[in-house]
Amino acid sequence: MLHFTVITIFPEMFASPLAHSILKKAQEKGLISVRLVDLRDYATDRHRTTDDSPYGGGQGMVMKPAPLIAAIEDARKKGKNPRVILLTPQGKALNQQEADKLSQEKEIVLICGRYEGVDERVKGFVDEELSMGDYTLSGGEPAAVVVIDTVTRLIPGVLGNVKSSQEESFSAGLLEYPQYTRPEEFRGVKVPEVLLSGDHERIKNWRREMSLKLTRERRPDLFRKAPLTAEERRPLAVGSPRLCMALLHYPVYDKNRQVVTTAVTNMDIHDIARSARTYGVQRFYVVTPVKALQKLALKIIAHWQQGYGSQYNQTRKEALALVRLKDALDEVILDMEREYGSKPKLVVTSARPGGKRTSFLELRDMLIKDIQPFLLLLGTGWGLTETVLGQSDYLLEPIDGGTDYNHLSVRAAAAIILDRVLGK
Ligand SMILES: C[S@@+](CC[C@H](N)C(=O)[O-])C[C@H]1O[C@@H](n2cnc3c(N)ncnc32)[C@H](O)[C@@H]1O
Repeated sequence: MLHFTVITIFPEMFASPLAHSILKKAQEKGLISVRLVDLRDYATDRHRTTDDSPYGGGQGMVMKPAPLIAAIEDARKKGKNPRVILLTPQGKALNQQEADKLSQEKEIVLICGRYEGVDERVKGFVDEELSMGDYTLSGGEPAAVVVIDTVTRLIPGVLGNVKSSQEESFSAGLLEYPQYTRPEEFRGVKVPEVLLSGDHERIKNWRREMSLKLTRERRPDLFRKAPLTAEERRPLAVGSPRLCMALLHYPVYDKNRQVVTTAVTNMDIHDIARSARTYGVQRFYVVTPVKALQKLALKIIAHWQQGYGSQYNQTRKEALALVRLKDALDEVILDMEREYGSKPKLVVTSARPGGKRTSFLELRDMLIKDIQPFLLLLGTGWGLTETVLGQSDYLLEPIDGGTDYNHLSVRAAAAIILDRVLGK
């Protein structure tokens, strides 16, 4: 049994919400009780005043501390260690986890503000401040109804089917899958075939997939935090980004801003491939027009793919399997177009300041939301040329270490960017 006490100047506002449906049944079954306390009973003047004008001037009235604190103290005395909650837009936002925690309580006291809110000193007498979201209600009463409702449905025995509260939006950190009922076809729109199949395994998988898709598209913030399986996080699984990387050895600048071709290095190939595999990047293109360097790169890759290295170190083999050698950036774009059916969005990186920058977080959101492929370009030497930058769709913000030294190796920069954009 969970006892709610509501302190309000409008107890009548609760009559209807408490007299219907789930909340009515929960009271009848003795699973919750709600005591409404009229705050005016704790006022000491003839007019039963509970508000006054604000110190410092300004609009509206403020709820006086004395009646509120007297009501809280009385509720604490009458109850057995109740959790006292002030409803305020400045509080912690109510979510499913918070509601879950509250449903374990035995007694909850909810304090409803009105006017411009409550005197700040009241906050010293409560255990917690809760907000319903980033908007302003005219009073705490609708907020109290929300708390009572969402907490009550989590109490065992309140809902007929325990599973229904477990499968709902937010319970698993995801939005719920779409629901359908009869008729099978309505105004030309059919119920998805899988739901009529009677195949429970398929239905379960479809629902999970839809949940992931909806959450990814509508609530990337929830999606990032959701407890997903390794499979669900994997590239090409639902909700995973179509991201490839390319390391350009031409055209890049040298120290004197001359356009040059740089040498391919063993370390770049290994380290970036391993980072790419770790963060779920789908391909890592190594771009050089120099045939001799391509041959060298091929030799390295073959050693780890087919040669001695493939048996010696299986995980290295897995990382190097992502590497593709190409002559030029245009070929990379063509290759991705063939693979994904559309041209990739080009994201360039540059340590040089200036230009309109896309933040790591913005790219992260685009990768979660968009189904389009993205190609992250990394330069060697003194960086990507203006021509390449000019071709790009997004210029990523530079990594800022907070000092005046800005000379990361491309391997380190790649790992940092991947972690900021894809890391958990
Ligand atoms: C008009 S509001 C006061 C808003 C206050 N002036 C402010 O800006 O924070 C009156 C009362 O409604 C309740 N209230 C308003 N918005 C709320 C929200 N988002 N969550 C919880 N309670 C809210 C609080 O009890 C508040 O004291």
